Amino acid sequence: MRRSQIVGCGSYLPERIVTNDELAKRVDTSDEWIAERTGIRQRHVAAEGEFTSHLATRAAERALAAANLPISDLDLIVLATATPDETFPATATRVQQALGMTRGAAFDVGAVCSGFIYAMAVADNFLKCGQAKTALVIGAETFSRILDWTDRSTCVLFGDGAGAVVLRAGEGVGDSTDRGILTTKIHSDGRHHDLLFANGGPSTTQTAGVVKMEGRKVFKHAIEKLTEVVGESLAEVGLPASAIDWLVPHQANRRIIDGAAQKLALPPERVVITVDRHANTSAASVPLALAEAVGDGRIRPGHLVLMEAMGSGFTWGAALARM
Ligand code: COA
Repeated sequence: MRRSQIVGCGSYLPERIVTNDELAKRVDTSDEWIAERTGIRQRHVAAEGEFTSHLATRAAERALAAANLPISDLDLIVLATATPDETFPATATRVQQALGMTRGAAFDVGAVCSGFIYAMAVADNFLKCGQAKTALVIGAETFSRILDWTDRSTCVLFGDGAGAVVLRAGEGVGDSTDRGILTTKIHSDGRHHDLLFANGGPSTTQTAGVVKMEGRKVFKHAIEKLTEVVGESLAEVGLPASAIDWLVPHQANRRIIDGAAQKLALPPERVVITVDRHANTSAASVPLALAEAVGDGRIRPGHLVLMEAMGSGFTWGAALARM
């Protein structure tokens, strides 16, 4: 049975760090409020002239180096972003050009904070059905460009960054001990549009708009949807929550992450946390966290990793992978 194996991870964060104290000089907030309600202490912000494609390309180069694969092996780039360089073409094609990849296909996927899980699901299906052998899956964002920096209820929550994985088709016996992505599950429900959205776009306002959110309502849905989709994923592969070695969750709010871990009865030392340093980097948050924990040796070959995310749309999803 064909499986998509994660053979390399990489990430990139812009150099500039903005602390909570710095934000407290711009809006009526405090390090204490932000840290207590969200777990966030700082975020990275892209420099002027540094675009989503630049962050994505750096992360992709690192993932390819970790995989020890040449660009010529790549058949596919699937890039998740809600902050593309331009309205069109897809930011993935910018990355394709920057990497010097001149064949195959590159396109974007839009599912906001669930974007990386969606992109993994898309690439995994391409590999499983034999339409591609090697894929680069990227989550990259410059949310700092679509924030209202006078709105304290949103501007303190987000950051910029990128993460990438290289997936390669491999064969196995088809059970849960095989290396590779065991399952991906994605969902959406458009009825919740108004709880989290950007109030602009090429067809409506001809501007990108800024983030608008009803935080408390999003919070409530997040725990509910994530619990559901994680249960669905584990049930499909017939594994109990106790089999999970690492939870690599979307990093929006420490309280949401703790809530999800508690429902799975996973101790904090089996949860990868980056929200304190990265804040919410939307589609980049899961691959950034994955690359960090693979890079520092916490996640090792054979470990069972559960990735999950929930975002605007609403969209939500999970991916279970044996590393
Ligand atoms: N600093 C200080 N006070 C702030 C603040 C800030 N940055 N942002 C909001 N407040 C105030 C509010 O104005 C409100 O004041 P009021 O009671 O006088 O009206 C008070 O804090 C409580 O606001 P509330 O929104 O109810 O707080 P909360 O405990 O729900 O925390 C979030 C707010 C946004 C941190 C939280 O709801 C959250 O994380 N939600 C999920 C967001 C998310 O994950 N989004 C991305 C999904 S991909």
